[in-house]
Amino acid sequence: MSGMSELKQFNQPLLVEGWYWLLPSHQLKPGQVRAVELSGKQLAVWRSASGKVHVFDAHCPHMGAHLAEGRVMGESLRCFFHNWRFEADGRCSDIPCLKRDGGGIRAQSWPVEEHYGLIWIWPGTQAGPFLPMPPELAAQPLRWQLGNHFIKGCHPNVVMINAIDEHHFQTVHKLPGHILSLTATPQGQHTLHFRNTGTLPRHHWLGRLLGRFYRGPLYYETTYWYGHVGVASFGPDFLHLHVMFALRRTQEGKTEGWAIALTRRHAGPLGWLRDQLALLITRVGARYFALGDTRVFQTIRFDFRNPTPADRSVIAFIRHYEQQTRINWENHDT
Ligand code: FES
Ligand SMILES: [Fe+2]
Repeated sequence: MSGMSELKQFNQPLLVEGWYWLLPSHQLKPGQVRAVELSGKQLAVWRSASGKVHVFDAHCPHMGAHLAEGRVMGESLRCFFHNWRFEADGRCSDIPCLKRDGGGIRAQSWPVEEHYGLIWIWPGTQAGPFLPMPPELAAQPLRWQLGNHFIKGCHPNVVMINAIDEHHFQTVHKLPGHILSLTATPQGQHTLHFRNTGTLPRHHWLGRLLGRFYRGPLYYETTYWYGHVGVASFGPDFLHLHVMFALRRTQEGKTEGWAIALTRRHAGPLGWLRDQLALLITRVGARYFALGDTRVFQTIRFDFRNPTPADRSVIAFIRHYEQQTRINWENHDT
């Protein structure tokens, strides 16, 4: 068997363009500024007095002081060192010693969104069209809960493929037979969708039990968005559950991420109760699947030398990742 010759950027520190989480929203209060690193880039993330979040390159265009040492003043940010002031779009609006603005000088600012309890950056040439979401819930009112925060000892890509590594669902998670057989469908350059078309084994007690809850195959879908966001959807026909895994590579090459439970928003107090229950079950289910593999993630050195036919979904994901555009921090013009 031949190895995966396509692995050009899969194990690399530089990530592909996409929405990446930077901080949980609750960790950045109005008036605060924090330092965050993403894919080798140092950033300053700040929230203005009115609550809007902005992301700048960390180092001040005057002399390079870290802007996270600075102070938020209303809707602008002042560098600690010589007190230059920068507006939300990065424009330098005050150089105190010159008593004038900075002319064309600006701090580099990046597209940012706040959603699902997280602050997201788009580190590319143009902000991506959509934040990740479960396709089934597109254009629906949502409720979400930020679930567990985790660190894994490997590259995010290795964590990503776990959700579609069919074979390991048998060996690690003990799902019988061919319950899972995933079909991959790319949806544009940035999204890859996997849907289960496997059959429930009627000769197995678990297959018969599950058969009561599904008209067709067991409902399981995973959608990959951009670089390191995956949404897994599962559950019986009458209750579809959705969990988003938002990952990011740390400076040491590990994975730091959040699980976010999502559900369609139902109206009224009973609807609220139903939604809270769905979110709770989702978080418990996600935790079970996340814990099962922890040992592997601490010690694996991903080196895909001998792919087998059972790895076809993993190979589909690798090809999807490899064809995306790498982040190019330098080529951004605003
Ligand atoms: S380094 Fe920022 S104002 Fe001088
Ligand atoms: Fe797993």
